[in-house]
Amino acid sequence: MMREFESRDGQMMIGGVSAASIAEEFGTPVYVTDEQRVRENYRRIHGAFSRFMDTRIHYACKANTNLAILRILEQEGSGIDAVSIGEVRTCLKAGFTPDRIMYTGVNVSDRELKEVSDLGVMINLDSVSEMERLAKIAPGYPVSFRITPGVGSGHGAKVITGNKGAKFGIPLDEVVGTYARAKDLGFDIKGIHAHIGSGGQSAEPFSEMMEVLIGLADEIAELGIDLDFIDMGGGIGVPYRPQEEEMDVEELASVITDMITEETGIGTLILEPGRYIICDSTVLLTRVNDVKDAGTKKYVGCDAGFNTLIRPAMYDSYHYVALANKFGKACTAKYDVVGPICETGDYLAHDRVLPDPTEGDIVAVYNAGAYGFSMSSNYNSRPLCAEVLVNDGKAELIREAETVEEQWRHQIIPERLRK
Ligand code: LLP
Repeated sequence: MMREFESRDGQMMIGGVSAASIAEEFGTPVYVTDEQRVRENYRRIHGAFSRFMDTRIHYACKANTNLAILRILEQEGSGIDAVSIGEVRTCLKAGFTPDRIMYTGVNVSDRELKEVSDLGVMINLDSVSEMERLAKIAPGYPVSFRITPGVGSGHGAKVITGNKGAKFGIPLDEVVGTYARAKDLGFDIKGIHAHIGSGGQSAEPFSEMMEVLIGLADEIAELGIDLDFIDMGGGIGVPYRPQEEEMDVEELASVITDMITEETGIGTLILEPGRYIICDSTVLLTRVNDVKDAGTKKYVGCDAGFNTLIRPAMYDSYHYVALANKFGKACTAKYDVVGPICETGDYLAHDRVLPDPTEGDIVAVYNAGAYGFSMSSNYNSRPLCAEVLVNDGKAELIREAETVEEQWRHQIIPERLRK
């Protein structure tokens, strides 16, 4: 089931703090993350798999790279799935040692390969081209390969990555040849990786992918290459709708780890969950600026739009919304919840029943932790918003809201155009 929040005197509570008081203290829009929920999610997924075999969780930090959140996961013992030099350096800054980070880039430049290998972070290669280039830059480097398993899954076409013909990974019929070539080039080959996509809600694609990976690992073993790990990527979905079932991760763990028998010689399983760890730990709070009855539709106009949370506009993603300061009150009519961006596609939620929304109310957008802040932008010259961490009845600022002045910082007016 979708995560629910405690109600106290008609107020939504998160981490023991009332959402409306956070909005009052820190301003809106604001992302609010519940520290304990992050820890629980990490422990639940790690516990489910590590009961059966040695398991490393590499948090896919593209979901949210806030340093304070990274600190929490570093304390929990997590590793990192990083996609760029920026993410690698951010995680090092947050205290992760290089051996806990794995870099899985796509269409990577030589410069970035050099920077990542200089830092000693393991590289998961996405293509033959990348392998040949890395062989020159960092001979003998520890690597694994992302393969295209021919199995895809996800909440929508834009986030399915493992299907045949995808832009990601080594095509299936080239995998064994590529490992042979990597051995000839003298790489220190550690493992095999695949990622089917993001936000899928069914377990079957994971076992189908695992079957492909294990078949390949057998063939690779015949080349005299012993793999230390299989990495099954991320992609475990979470419920975004009130009655939606959650994926049974205990069951998933049992099925997947059963498949990795002793004969495979593979001792470690790696998972790269982003959404599963951070999604339901966070709500986006946005203030109602304007309420409009447009005849055929009623609008609740908020201070967060697709500049702050792009998932509805970009993927048609559903996010549950509630009025944090009228929590649990009877609903009166249907509204579209929309933002301050000058585009019709700027919406947070369509056709939601809400309890008589009025100016000044606080809308809580649920499940905003994964790919919420990290995909936000300055569109319409709106500053990036603040992030707050709640724990044990206390709220702390973990990112200041940007200022407009900061948006000018890197811009240059040529002398001849100056006033
Ligand atoms: N590993 C790799 C190699 C990935 O590319 C990703 C996500 C993950 C792990 C983590 O997937 P997760 O467990 O979070 O599903 N912006 C989209 C999601 C894009 C996911 C990209 N890759 C969204 O808002 O739904």
